[in-house]
Amino acid sequence: MCGIIGYIGPKSLVPVLVEGLKKLEYRGYDSAGVAVVDGGAVSIRRVLGKIAVLEESLRADPLRGSYGLGHTRWATHGRPSETNAHPHIDCTGELVVVHNGIIENYLDLKKRLREEGHRFRTETDTEVIAHLIEKHFRGDLGAAVRTAAAELEGAFAVAAIASRDPRKIVVAKNGPPAVVGLGDGETIVSSDINPILVHTSKVVFLEDGEMAVIDGNGAKFTDFRGIPLDKKVETIGWNPLMIEKRGFKHFMLKEIFEQPEVIRDTLMGRVSLDAGEVLLDEIGLTEGVLAKVRRAVVIACGTSYHAGLAGQIFLETLAKIPASVEYASEFRYRDFLMDKETLVVVISQSGETADTLAALRASKPRCAAVVAVTNAVSSSIAREAHGVLYTHAGPEIGVAATKTFTAQMTALALLALDLGQKRGALEAKDVLGILEEMQRLPHKVERVLSRAKDVEDLAARFVSFSHFLYLGRWVSFPAALEGALKLKEISYIHAEAYAGGEMKHGPIALIDEKMPTLVVVPKDRVYEKMLSNIAEIKARAGYILAVAGEADAEIARHVDVVLPVPEVHPLLSPFLTVVPLQLFAYDIAAKRGADVDQPRNLAKSVTVE
Ligand code: F6R
Repeated sequence: MCGIIGYIGPKSLVPVLVEGLKKLEYRGYDSAGVAVVDGGAVSIRRVLGKIAVLEESLRADPLRGSYGLGHTRWATHGRPSETNAHPHIDCTGELVVVHNGIIENYLDLKKRLREEGHRFRTETDTEVIAHLIEKHFRGDLGAAVRTAAAELEGAFAVAAIASRDPRKIVVAKNGPPAVVGLGDGETIVSSDINPILVHTSKVVFLEDGEMAVIDGNGAKFTDFRGIPLDKKVETIGWNPLMIEKRGFKHFMLKEIFEQPEVIRDTLMGRVSLDAGEVLLDEIGLTEGVLAKVRRAVVIACGTSYHAGLAGQIFLETLAKIPASVEYASEFRYRDFLMDKETLVVVISQSGETADTLAALRASKPRCAAVVAVTNAVSSSIAREAHGVLYTHAGPEIGVAATKTFTAQMTALALLALDLGQKRGALEAKDVLGILEEMQRLPHKVERVLSRAKDVEDLAARFVSFSHFLYLGRWVSFPAALEGALKLKEISYIHAEAYAGGEMKHGPIALIDEKMPTLVVVPKDRVYEKMLSNIAEIKARAGYILAVAGEADAEIARHVDVVLPVPEVHPLLSPFLTVVPLQLFAYDIAAKRGADVDQPRNLAKSVTVE
C-alpha cells in the first residue's frame, strides 16, 4: 500500500511524476504529494485526496525541477491529512523521503531523534526515516541511507533525495516492492512496473536488503552493507496500452470483459490437445518432487483465497490429493503441521501481499515445495517460491480483482491436471476431456458477457437494497463468496455468502422480502440440494436471483429471475457463474455513483500486515 515514484532525466518532471502516480493510485489514494529539486532548491506539494487533487494544485500553481519524487498514500500511521501526506522532510527541508511500508520501531527512533534535537512535524512513522538519514548524512546520500536502513525495523521501500548531494535518488528495499527502470538517459524508480513501461521496458527488481543509487545515466546497486551487486536487467513484455481503459467507463468493466482473452492467454502453450497433456515444465519442479506429494495446502488472501477454494476442489478431484485452503493472515500465526510430502501453493495476483509472502517464508523450509500462482513477473512471491505458475492476465488496475480470479482458477485447474497426470491419478481420456472443455471456456465466457445488458437492467432494480445473501455449494461456493466480496467492496452494500447447506444453521433468520438472495445453481452434483435451499428461502418470502445453466428448463419455476450461463463441465462452472456476479456488483456500484476502480479504504496491493 502506498505508491512511490522517482524520476531523473530530460523529460518534464512534474507530468512524469503525476502520470506515474496515477498508475500507482490503486495502491492507496487518501493523499498524495511530490518533491522536486530545481537548482539547489527543494519544493514540495502535498494534498489531502486523490492524484486529481494534486494535479489540479500543480496546474494552478506549477512546480519545476530536474529530478524528484512522488507518493500516493494509504494511511497506516497518522490519519489522512495534508501534513501526514508524503514526501516527508528532515529538519533542514533539504532532505526528502517517500516510503511504502511500516517502520515498527519508529516510536523508539522518534524518541531518540527528538532527544538529539530533531524536530518532528507529522504523526507518521515515515518522518523518522528522513531524520535518521539526516543524522547520518555526511555529504553522501547513498551512505546515509545505508546506515539508516540498518537501524530500521519493519517493512520499507524508501526513496530519498537531498539537495546537498544533487541529481541523485537513493532507493532501499526491505519488504515492499521497488523497481528501477533504466531508460535512455533517464532513470525511474517505482513501486511497480506500470509507470516505468511508458519510458522503458528495461527494469531491475530490488530484493530485500538491496538498494540503488540512481542518476540520469543509470543505477548502481549494492546490498545494505555496501557490497556492489551485479543485478539482472529484465525486459518486460507488457504493452503500456494494456493499462488504458480502451473506451470502457471503468477499468473494472474492461477487466471483466477481458476474461475470455485472459483464460486463453493463461492456457496458451500449456496444453497439448494432440497428446492430451498439460505442459507445465515451466514450474521448474522435478517429477521426483511432485511424485512424492501426498497433500496440498493452498494459501492466499481475499479473492485469491476464493480462487484457492476452487483450486482445492480441482486438486481433490483431478489430482486426487487431500487439499486444504488457508487464509495467509491466519496461517502465519498457527502451528500448522506440514511435512516434506506437502505441496504448498500460494496464490497472489500482486505477488507482494505481506501475509502471503510471510506464509510462503514460514512454509518453505518445511514442505516439499512452494509453487506460486501469481500475475506479477519477478514479484517477491514469484522470486521466493520454488516454482512459479504465472497467470497471464496482464495488468489489473481496478482495485477489485476480476480477471485475475478467472486466470488463477485457470492456472489451478492446469496444476491439478498436471499433478493428476504425473501421479497417475487420472486417465488420459479424462485429462483430455477437461482440457477440451477448458479450451472452450473463452468462447463460453464471451456468451455470458454478450448478456451484460440483461444483468445491467436487472441491477437497476436492486440499486437501493442494503443487504444481499449469496449461496452456492461445492464449486459454486467460491463463486458465491467472490460475488458477495465484489458487491461489498465496490458498492459498500452488506453482502454475505454461505455454503448453501449452512443456511439453515443461522443465516436463514435473515431472510425476508428486503434481503434478496443470489443463488449459484448450475446442474451439478449438488443441484437438487440447492433446490431444497431455494425452497426454504421461498417459504420465507425471499426474492431469488439464480445464476443457472441455460439449458435448465426447471429452475425458472423455483426462482424469481434467472441469469443463464452456458452448460459446461461441472467442475468448471465457476469460470462462467462468477461473471454475471461480477457484472451485477459492477452495475450496482456504477449506478450508485460509487468510485468503482478505487473503492474507499482499499488498496490493490496489501504490503503491510
Ligand atoms: C478483492 C481483492 C483482494 C485481493 C487480496 C489479495 O477484490 O482484490 O481481496 O484479492 O488483497 O491480493 P493478492 O492476490 O495480490 O495477494
